[in-house]
Amino acid sequence: MHALLAVVLLVAGMPAAADGLALTPPMGWNSWNKFGCDVSEKLIKDTADALVATGMKDAGYQYLVIDDCWQVRRDAEGRIVPDPDRFPSGMKALADYVHGQGLKFGLYSDAGTGTCQKRPGSKDHEDVDARTYAAWGVDYLKYDWCNAEGQDTRDSYARMSRALRASGRPIVFSICEWGSTKPWLWAPGVGHLWRSTGDIQDCWDCGKDWGGLGVVKIIDLQADLHPFAGPGHWNDPDMLEVGNGGLSAAESRSHFSFWALLAAPLMAGNDLRGMSAETREILTNREVIAVDQDPLGMQGRKVRDDGDREVWMKPLADGAKAVILFNRGAAPASVGVAWEDVSLAPRTKVLVRDLWRKADAGSFTGRYEATVGPHDVVMVRITPQP
Ligand code: GAL
Repeated sequence: MHALLAVVLLVAGMPAAADGLALTPPMGWNSWNKFGCDVSEKLIKDTADALVATGMKDAGYQYLVIDDCWQVRRDAEGRIVPDPDRFPSGMKALADYVHGQGLKFGLYSDAGTGTCQKRPGSKDHEDVDARTYAAWGVDYLKYDWCNAEGQDTRDSYARMSRALRASGRPIVFSICEWGSTKPWLWAPGVGHLWRSTGDIQDCWDCGKDWGGLGVVKIIDLQADLHPFAGPGHWNDPDMLEVGNGGLSAAESRSHFSFWALLAAPLMAGNDLRGMSAETREILTNREVIAVDQDPLGMQGRKVRDDGDREVWMKPLADGAKAVILFNRGAAPASVGVAWEDVSLAPRTKVLVRDLWRKADAGSFTGRYEATVGPHDVVMVRITPQP
């Protein structure tokens, strides 16, 4: 076999983890939750500056992704054209600016004929789009599933996956078919992350007729997905709503804690220019982020369910465990974890570190219990002592 052909075949068939991308869940910012179609070059540059100035970049947020509505048409050669009014300098110049801030740049497209907001989709343009993105310096592609009636999901995503690999540029591939064909069963090796539910809404427990889901409804849908995540292939319960106004401080802490315990991508979705200190402190809590980014890459799971009181646990690379004591109820409640819930012998002496108080709670044997406010969590890291 010709050597070049052999290399091409090897790269095309390579599982996603083997390309070394997204070995921990991607972190960054996406325009959709707050700005919808109101995206522009100015917003993206300001957001790049804000990622740096607020300490978000230092905390690990890296990918700056423009969601739907940046594109308007195709040119005579079939190449995608950015909105000239909103992105007057073009995408290459914008990607250069983002890279100049030490960040990575991402875009959005759709596997069908049009995006969800009726901009041109990538169907039958996968190769030219992948080449265009690579030439612009794109590092991340979110790929949606509107206007794809009659298309085979796996085949459509595999096409763009191959096109991205053939482009020669390392590009994280984010699959967004809303969990409808159980992508956790087929998407490892095709993309690096896949949405596992419909669209998140900026509310605790709401649900929309069209499939939008509040934070708690999304959490419940993740409970059985832990076997399918790992380095290079992650379940994606959608982007963060922290800082968008619809959640209380306790609910925002719970939202962020769960995304970390679930090894979810942490894509902030708020306006970073002038966010409150409270929002910034949640989004940049390094001890919680370290749980998300733990190199073992295991997704956490529910280990105890006592109605409104739940315990969730994520094993960590150093032998410690991250634990969430969760109170879904409307009044404060005492929530406890017994060592047998988290596969520790009852007599094990354990150091408990509270990740929101940022303080050690002390040494405990057998169980740890705390009072948890309504819709709130106590999140701890428990480390068995020698
Ligand atoms: C939805 C997707 C959202 C957002 C939106 C843009 O399908 O789930 O995250 O990308 O399309 O139109």
